[in-house]
This record gives sequence, structure tokens and C-alpha cells, in this order.
Amino acid sequence: MASDAAIGIHDLSFATSEFVLPHTALAEHNGTEVGKYHVGIGQRSMSVAAEDEDIVTLGAAAAAPIIARHGTDEIRTVVFATESSIDQAKSAGVYVHSLLGLPTATRVVELKQACYGATAALQFAIGLVHRDPTQRVLVIASDISKYELDSPGEATQGAAAVAMLVGPDPALVRIEGPSGLFTADVMDFWRPNYREAALVDGQESITAYLQAVEGTWKDYTERGGHALEEFSAFCYHQPFTKMAYKAHRHLLNTCGYDTDDAEIKRAIGQTTAYNAVIGNSYTASVYLGLAALLDQADDLTGKSIGFLSYGSGSVAEFFAGSVVPGYRQHLRTEAHREAIDRRRPLDYAAYRWLHQRSFPADGGDHPTQEQTSGTFRLAALRGHKRIYERH
Ligand code: HMG
Repeated sequence: MASDAAIGIHDLSFATSEFVLPHTALAEHNGTEVGKYHVGIGQRSMSVAAEDEDIVTLGAAAAAPIIARHGTDEIRTVVFATESSIDQAKSAGVYVHSLLGLPTATRVVELKQACYGATAALQFAIGLVHRDPTQRVLVIASDISKYELDSPGEATQGAAAVAMLVGPDPALVRIEGPSGLFTADVMDFWRPNYREAALVDGQESITAYLQAVEGTWKDYTERGGHALEEFSAFCYHQPFTKMAYKAHRHLLNTCGYDTDDAEIKRAIGQTTAYNAVIGNSYTASVYLGLAALLDQADDLTGKSIGFLSYGSGSVAEFFAGSVVPGYRQHLRTEAHREAIDRRRPLDYAAYRWLHQRSFPADGGDHPTQEQTSGTFRLAALRGHKRIYERH
């Protein structure tokens, strides 16, 4: 049986939405000095989903290149992590399973714990592969982040999906034990079933995140994890990229180190490139950080990366990954750049219209405008059923 050390991320691909709203447009609308966005929270733009995009189309778009490269034969499980769920019963993963033509002999399930869900999915996938090393697990993290218009959270929206193929002898990153865990019952950010936009106590959420950094690290070290100096880089959950800086500074302080700005930038700077222009993608965020790091860094072969996954409410986990020799041949750097560059800029009015629209709940036939240029689209809500198309 494969050991933990030989299981991890074999392939990683992400997708983001059709549209993008630059923070300059938001600043112009609400009279905010744009430096607050560019410097204060570290965001340049945010992905905005088209009328015919949702977590299913984004998830399918992220996973399709993985299926194209590896086929479907070894995939026996799909775990779909999201906190922007479209149905209280049916897993969004079942729609993706269908759109991608995966075999019927597959288990599919949806997981939720705010932004932490994808890390739970990754750890559960590792357990499944450990039990049966002939199988691979497709983990999909897909979210569209939505706060109220004209609220402080509005500048921290975004949309993206990351798909990861988890298996034995991974080509990219081996995920290692132990994990440092932390759960606390806090109301920092939540979204009751009857609301489309999240509720948040912004400052409380930052404090809760930092407490979780401390709590996971304490548990991680008590369980015999690496020393801080053994890590070459750190991938943090990035609701906005400045949060990763706050978190790493807090971790250094907790460990009794000086918080040298240059050292913090060296440890996390390259992980923020995609999140700074995509925005908060909730479950996908920490793995977009990994994609940005792998795509940009000089050779990381054999290096340890620290991961801090935080989901409001709250659950957090700190764990380590080790970069596998030859990983660079398996990266999707160009496709990732294309996914970002192909987005079409929206003006503020068009963004606001998209933000406010929702399907009527009357069971009628409600086709969507054809806006996305992607392979998968949500064509209609018809008789309360979501109708998807593949081009
Ligand atoms: P705010 O009140 O609009 O902003 O809320 P602020 O007044 O706190 O300013 C933000 C920063 O910009 C400050 O820097 C200012 O000094 C600076 P800091 O003190 O933090 O270092 N600033 C400027 N800098 C340069 N030039 C200027 C300028 N003006 C001000 N002209 C907040 C910001 C993030 C709270 C808000 O956007 C919000 O509520 N966002 C949503 C919540 C959030 O993202 N929380 C993060 C932790 S919780 C989490 O990560 C989980 C989550 O992803 C959900 C999940 O798990 O599912 C959210």
C-alpha cells in the first residue's frame, strides 16, 4: 500500500469567469481612493461570472484539461468543494461528472465548510488513495464570491475553480503529514440558506483567521511537523492578497521571529499573482496560490511548501507539501495565463446588473443570454431544473 508521503497532487488546472471588473471601476463608482484596493487590500481586479456561468461550468472548465490529459479510467471519486452551492440535495459534482463523461462507476459528493472545503476534499482524497492506490480522485473547488453591493466586502469578491487530480506517485506535490488543525465556533462570515450574498464582520474575520493561523501552527508543531525555517514558501488562503501578508507576519511573530518585510515577500510574494487579479475564490483560493507559485518560481524541486487553509465559521488546517522532481514538465502555466487574460472587462453598470440578477423561482422556462465563450454553459433554468450545455 502506498504511504502518505507518496500521495498528492498529480495535476492541477484552474478556470475563471468570462468577465472581470477592475478595482479602478469600483473605486470610481464609490469614491474610494484606489490605493486602498491596490495597496491596502492588495487587489487589482475581480472575476465576475457571466449570466450563463456558475460553479458547475467553472468546475467543468477547470477539470476538462485534466480529463483530456489523463483520461477517466482511474477516477473513481469526484469530490466537489464549494460554499456557493446551487442545490441543497444534488451535488454540483454530478453535473460535472455528466458534462465530462465520467464513468458511471464513480462516487460523487459535495463538501462544505466555507473556504476550507477543498482542503477537506484533498485530505479525504488522500485517505481514499491510501486505501486503494489504483484509484485517483478528482477534487474540484469552485466558488463565486458575492457580498452586498456598496458594502466593504464588495471589493473582495471573485470567481474561480481549481481541479486537482489526487493520486499515488504524484507529478507535482506530495502532501505530507502531520496536519495542524483548529476549529472555533465564530460568526465572522456566514450565509444563511435564504441569502445569496454572504454576511460578514470584516475585522472579526481577520482576527479569527489570525487566531486560526496560531492554533493550527501550535497543533502542527506539537505533532512533530517541520520547523518554520524548513519551508521555502507558504500558500495561504487569500480572501484578498494582503491577508496572506498579515497571516505570515502573524506566524513569524508567533514563532518569535522578526517580521522583516522582504522576508515575508520572499516567502509568499509569488503565491499572490493570480488571486490579486481574480479575487476571492473561496475554496479555490489557497490552490490558486499554489498554481501561481509553481508557475512562477525558480526550480522548487524537493522544497517544502506550507499550506494554510482557512474557512470562516471556522475550520483551519496547516500542512506541508513537497515539490516533486520533474514537476515543471506538468505545469499549465500558459493555459492559466490565458484563463486570466481572456476575461472581458465590464463597466460598473454591467457588473451591477449581473450582480443583481437572479432566476425567478416560479418553475417557468428561463433561458440565459449566451455570454460565455467557454466550453460549458448554463443554458436555462426550466421547471426548476438547471440545463447545461457543452460546446
Ligand atoms: P474596510 O473597512 O473597507 O477597509 O474593510 P479598511 O478600512 O480595514 O482598510 C483596508 C486596508 O487598506 C487597511 O490596511 C487600510 O489602512 C488600508 P490594514 O490596516 O489592514 O493594513 N488603506 C489604504 N492603503 C493605501 N492607500 C489608501 C488606503 N486606504 C485604506 N488610500 C475588509 C476591509 C477586508 C474587512 C472588507 O473588505 C471585508 O469585510 N471583506 C470580506 C471579509 C474578508 O475577506 N475577511 C478576511 C478573513 S476571513 C476569510 O478569509 C474567509 C472568507 O474567505 C470566507 C470563507 O471562509 O468562506 C472571507
